[in-house]
Amino acid sequence: MFTTRLLPLALMTLFIGCNKDAVDSGVTEEEVEPVNGAEVYAASCAGCHSADGTGATGPSLVESVPTLSDEILLDVIENGVGSMPDMGLSTPEADAVFLYVRGEFGEFGGA
Ligand code: HEC
Repeated sequence: MFTTRLLPLALMTLFIGCNKDAVDSGVTEEEVEPVNGAEVYAASCAGCHSADGTGATGPSLVESVPTLSDEILLDVIENGVGSMPDMGLSTPEADAVFLYVRGEFGEFGGA
């Protein structure tokens, strides 16, 4: 099944992600101002998706983030989706939490 196949991959990325000093993405820390993505996540996301991303009232990000393209992930963060509200983040906050979520919960395709 899809999730059982994806979960070990997602968990693996989670561990690799923890060891990385910098998140490898198009957006760099310099461009996004001194906004801490982990703090934005804790304040704006963890309440519904849990601190470790395994989900609570919101779905598990560990499972879903590796299936979402950069474009879609950023769109969800900036505008919300379905029953998830628009969190009203500034562009630097959205970029910082995007990098954090990618680093913690997995690159597109589980790489
Ligand atoms: C008020 C609760 C709530 C908050 C706060 C919240 N989310 Fe969500 N999120 C949800 C719900 C509920 C869904 C499912 C929406 C739907 O499909 O109807 C969701 C969906 C998502 C998805 C898409 C999952 C998928 O399978 O397509 C992502 C990614 C996501 N949230 C990330 C975030 C991030 C990052 C933040 C912080 C900026 C955040 N969420 C804040 C409740 C929340």
